[in-house]
Amino acid sequence: MSNSNRWRPLASLLPLLLLAQASLATLAITSTELQKGVPALPLSLYRHLRRAEQQQALALATPTFLDDASSQLTFAAPAPAYQAHYFDQLISHDPEVPPPAGKTTFRQRYWFDAGYYKKGGPVFLLDGGETDGAGRLPFLKEGILRILSEATGGIGIVFEHRYYGESFPVDDLSTDSFRYLTTMQSLQDGAYFAENVKLPGLEDVKLTPNKHAAWFYYGGSYAGAKAAFARKLFPDVWWGAIASSAVTAAIVDYWEYYEPIRLHAPSACIDLLQNHTSVIDSLLALDNPLVTTSLKSYFGLPNITLDTDFVNALSIPLGSWQARNWDSEVGSSAFFDFCDTLTADPEEVTKLGGLTTTVLEFVAQAFPSWPKDPRKTFASFSAYAAYSKDKIASMCPEDEEQDDCFGTDAYGGDGLEEAPWKSWSYQFCTEWGYFMGGAPEGHPSIVSRLIGTDYTAQICEKAFPPGKLNSVPSTPNTTAINQWGSFKLQHSRLAFIDGSDDPWLYATPHSPHAPNRTDTIKRPFKVISGGVHHWDENGRLDGDVPKAIRKVHEDEVEFVKAWVKEWEERGRWKTGAWRD
Ligand SMILES: *[C@@H]1O[C@H](CO)[C@@H](O)[C@H](O)[C@H]1NC(C)=O
Ligand SMILES: *[C@@H]1O[C@H](CO)[C@@H](O)[C@H](O)[C@H]1NC(C)=O
Ligand SMILES: *[C@@H]1O[C@H](CO)[C@@H](O)[C@H](O)[C@H]1NC(C)=O
Ligand SMILES: *[C@@H]1O[C@H](CO)[C@@H](O)[C@H](O)[C@H]1NC(C)=O
Repeated sequence: MSNSNRWRPLASLLPLLLLAQASLATLAITSTELQKGVPALPLSLYRHLRRAEQQQALALATPTFLDDASSQLTFAAPAPAYQAHYFDQLISHDPEVPPPAGKTTFRQRYWFDAGYYKKGGPVFLLDGGETDGAGRLPFLKEGILRILSEATGGIGIVFEHRYYGESFPVDDLSTDSFRYLTTMQSLQDGAYFAENVKLPGLEDVKLTPNKHAAWFYYGGSYAGAKAAFARKLFPDVWWGAIASSAVTAAIVDYWEYYEPIRLHAPSACIDLLQNHTSVIDSLLALDNPLVTTSLKSYFGLPNITLDTDFVNALSIPLGSWQARNWDSEVGSSAFFDFCDTLTADPEEVTKLGGLTTTVLEFVAQAFPSWPKDPRKTFASFSAYAAYSKDKIASMCPEDEEQDDCFGTDAYGGDGLEEAPWKSWSYQFCTEWGYFMGGAPEGHPSIVSRLIGTDYTAQICEKAFPPGKLNSVPSTPNTTAINQWGSFKLQHSRLAFIDGSDDPWLYATPHSPHAPNRTDTIKRPFKVISGGVHHWDENGRLDGDVPKAIRKVHEDEVEFVKAWVKEWEERGRWKTGAWRD
């Protein structure tokens, strides 16, 4: 019996198993989740989501009359509390990549809060990383910048990264125009800023790094790695640094992104997901058009041509693991909604219409990974399919082809408005890697093994055709990053804060592949148990913060105070330098 014959009965039954669909749910996945946690970015889907989110944000910011009787005008979203400022930054710090003729600087955006400042106090710079810096303002108002400034009489600054938000040294985003985007150039931005900025309203206050003020670097994720590199490469500018969820190791094949999810998400859910994923891979491996089509239809994605695009679409819910936060106003619960669906109540099993014992026995035989009585597993498989129809397929607008939504061919666009997806893509294609996919054979996987780095890395060729002055290498030059220490990077007054459940853990100094360290005041090395991605970065003015987060904030205040004290004891400002 050939493989394809063996499978025909199941394939013909699949369409019969379709469950009645509930009405379309509201967006469960955000554009950020799609961008961060899914192997390959389906760009047009991303664009749809972003547009929808921007419209939603606009609607929120539009005045609504809540109380007609008193005609009170209220705004659902408060006006931004901070004014943006612009620093004249060098377009290039590298003589080998000269700026265009007649232009040497660009306007780099930043915000600051000196509300807690006391003369002689430190300065805390938070690196906006690979996003619009405006999104980091809550960390200035309520989060880590507020916490550290309040504790030490310091100034908090949010510093936008070149090529993000409004901080562009170029007019478009062609491959050539990206020639000024390297991790090193952006590290030099920070140092040059610290050494030259005159904060508006504080022009009389001397803040020269080390001489007049202790400067500290804070970053989370990519910016966390930058905090560590900044302290190591510019020790005379940065007196100390906090590197949160710092991905100091650049890794080309980062399949281990999914390991913390596999190990720490609810095990019943992961067990099922692993089994379903291998069943789907086995069905696709039959390479039987009837089976493949039935399977895709079953999951509401009949018109996706490539199997890889199909399984990539199925991995979309996993992006929401990273989006979790201890503060429900910040984080997403989409991951648990997904798991709740997969591990549906056993009572629901009886509702499986049209499912005969024969089918169940067939499935049990065909898939050794399914239990002898696979009713519950099958219920969950169809629940997974229903979730895909409801929450994944439905993200694609009705008038759009599924191939356009979920395919990976449409990486066009050179305008600055493409920065939210394109700038970081350029960075990972040139230096960082982090191509995600299925686990190697023999290791359990929660995403399809059809997805490998060749699939995930397509964006590099498609989005960045070679230019005249610049091109993207065939594989990212991770040496450009890892030369600074990777898993072993350490320095005095450099803190590493990680989350035990963070999908980026395996790229940080807390990776199981990294050498063990001791946690000291001089070299803090802390894990937030159960924490995900830079969970110490946000805070709440109302103090409604869980114990583990309060503890890490207290720890950070403790070691930063000790570092400030160390700086003061050096006598830099007491000896008169402060007054010069
Ligand atoms: C799939 O393509 C067919 C034929 O073009 C179309 O009628 C159908 O609506 C499409 N289905 C989905 C879910 O996009
Ligand atoms: C998943 O597959 C394994 C065998 O590979 C089996 O022991 C287990 O029961 C399955 N789990 C579920 C929830 O179906
Ligand atoms: C990769 O980066 C390192 C460090 O910057 C550099 O020395 C090396 O020449 C680069 N390799 C390639 C192939 O560009
Ligand atoms: C690191 O520490 C952990 C827990 O203390 C221990 O299980 C592990 O074996 C250590 N690894 C190395 C490489 O020393």
